[in-house]
Amino acid sequence: MRIALYGGSFNPPHLGHAEAAYTVYEELKPDKLLIIPANIPPHKEMEEGCPSAEERLELCRLAFAEIPGAEVSDIEVRREGRSYTADTVEQLRAEYPEDELILVMGTDMLLCFEDWYRFEYLLRECCLAVLAREDNQELELLEKMRLLQKEHGAKVILLSHTPLAMSSSEIRERLRLRLRAGLLDDKVYSCIIRNGYYDALPELSWLREKAFAYLEPGRIAHVVGCESEAVMLAKTWGEDPDAAATAGILHDITKKYRGEEQLKLCRKYGIVYDEAEARNTAILHARTGAALAREEFHVSEEISEAIRWHTTGKPDMSTLEKILYLADFIEPTRDFPGLEELRKLAYKDLNDAMALALSMSMGDLRRREREVYKDTLEAYNWYCLERE
Ligand SMILES: [Fe+2]
Ligand SMILES: [Fe+2]
Repeated sequence: MRIALYGGSFNPPHLGHAEAAYTVYEELKPDKLLIIPANIPPHKEMEEGCPSAEERLELCRLAFAEIPGAEVSDIEVRREGRSYTADTVEQLRAEYPEDELILVMGTDMLLCFEDWYRFEYLLRECCLAVLAREDNQELELLEKMRLLQKEHGAKVILLSHTPLAMSSSEIRERLRLRLRAGLLDDKVYSCIIRNGYYDALPELSWLREKAFAYLEPGRIAHVVGCESEAVMLAKTWGEDPDAAATAGILHDITKKYRGEEQLKLCRKYGIVYDEAEARNTAILHARTGAALAREEFHVSEEISEAIRWHTTGKPDMSTLEKILYLADFIEPTRDFPGLEELRKLAYKDLNDAMALALSMSMGDLRRREREVYKDTLEAYNWYCLERE
């Protein structure tokens, strides 16, 4: 059996790694391609928010899922401590005494191969497959190959490969800056965002794409309008426009679920609802939406709270909560009597605008003989009667 070993930190595993693994599959046709994430010992300097070894294994399973024959191995993670390839090969050799082992590495790794721990042992047990990039290191690489062959009897294969022009550390940096730029598989990126690894913030265009998939098509225009209105209000009132955009994009994410479906979501997220909410399940979308935004997109507490209160309002809301409540009310696709006055007020005085919006909402509910939920009543009392 031919077994290729492809190790690395994979922190995170990106499209360049998957491409390299695919090259190995295409050119070497191994029976098994072991992807071996190195253990990263706690004392090694790790940036805040990096996933644990177990979590990194899971990211690798997602990243290499499409590569034929690829299997993520926890051999180095299980061994703990610093990962030496020679120890890994020794363990694998015991498991596969008769099989061909091929060690996959990048150009830089080959160039310093004699510095590797027990490199001569590695050369005896393995053939080396080098993912060679076509650049000015080519001559140096050929020279090195000849030297290793001559002095140590090394067997080296060259694989042509175009590496990603970006390192994992640069990707980690970009994730914090809300940039994804197609460097990560979507499942890997979703997992990173969902768990908040690397303190990643979702790219807004990606977030829209994901959020819109939850919406009934007719609601998309409203959500787009709500996002843009929330951003304008945020800029006016000194709030973070990206936080406002995120809240706007996600605020109605569970709106399409009605009745039993909405109650099922409540049970899933451990939301205890009262009788009035059970009678009018539509208002629960604010609570389930906040929970889903937290669970799937790792939004901050303040964004999740803004979504939580966007339908009913409540007394003494935060600036972001008021911004989302009002943006939902006055976004460009809305049309009702008194809208222009409310729009002007939202950019002049947030609390006055809340008072007007809540009285409009109360008036509308009464006209339509609809039940007024207690939070709306409390918000109305606070903003319209007690605030002075
Ligand atoms: Fe809503
Ligand atoms: Fe809405």
